[in-house]
Amino acid sequence: PRPIVHDCDPGVDDAVALLLALADPDLTLLAVTTTHGNVALHDTTRNALELLAFAGRSDVPVYAGAAGPLVRQPVYAPEIHGRGGLGGVTLPEVGAEIQAPHAALALLELADTHPELTVCATGPLTNLALAERLRPGFLKSLREVVVMGGSVKVGAPKLGNVTPYAEFNAYADPHALRVVLESGANVALFGLNLTRQVRVTREHTAALNALGTDAARLTADMLGGYLTMIEKRDQRVGALHDPCTVAYLIRPELFRLEAARVRVSTDEGEYAGMTAREDGEPNVRLATWADEDGIYRLLAERLG
Ligand code: BDR
Ligand code: CA
Repeated sequence: PRPIVHDCDPGVDDAVALLLALADPDLTLLAVTTTHGNVALHDTTRNALELLAFAGRSDVPVYAGAAGPLVRQPVYAPEIHGRGGLGGVTLPEVGAEIQAPHAALALLELADTHPELTVCATGPLTNLALAERLRPGFLKSLREVVVMGGSVKVGAPKLGNVTPYAEFNAYADPHALRVVLESGANVALFGLNLTRQVRVTREHTAALNALGTDAARLTADMLGGYLTMIEKRDQRVGALHDPCTVAYLIRPELFRLEAARVRVSTDEGEYAGMTAREDGEPNVRLATWADEDGIYRLLAERLG
């Protein structure tokens, strides 16, 4: 099995990505590292611990990371993920311990002990950037860094979700995303241009619920809560952002990726966190197409 660490900010879709990673026999989840993001670090960390306990996998250590971005002020998204972060779902409390050290140091240690390590990052990229600054070359030493972040088309079309131009993870810490993009690492980038091809609808949540297992029902409940939140904002269709990264690790043939050069704006103001494709040496493999039905079939097989 392929060793991975999931760096995340659960977050409804982070939680689904985590459940999918836990359910796949070809991935070994060595650890979860948590970051500020959809909700505050304290909440994302509690959610990670509770999700692992729910899945009967409290043996997977959780390392708490950055409470805020490198330079900017934290931004959260409780209006999308609910106050607790899981779409209004509350899981049984757990007394489990957060492990020392800090997530950035844990990432370095895990890379030392697992030379073929893959990091799957589905929140703001602060922990990865901190680890890279502590040990330049860390990201390049990884087998692959699979990132949900950005929204990439040529030029600067209004394709964001947190601002007209910016995607949430890129906006929440653009400087950290820049460190990742400039690291020379083997980055697979899943932006909104891709993840919006994998919609979340009431039909999807009903089908997941009908599978009847605990994991599938929890997934349906969380995604249902998320849909209720976005319906309040007059949107009817959500997107299954973060699980695309894990689905890609399990079944790369469900996606198309192409070499591209992507840049993120660290300017303040209107374009903060905007990502765009530009000419020049490729720095990522950019995901451009996803097989929506295939991804839902994979979810149903693994969670069902
Ligand atoms: C990303 O932002 C978060 O709200 C989601 O969990 C996902 O990682 C989508 O823009
Ligand atoms: Ca996320």
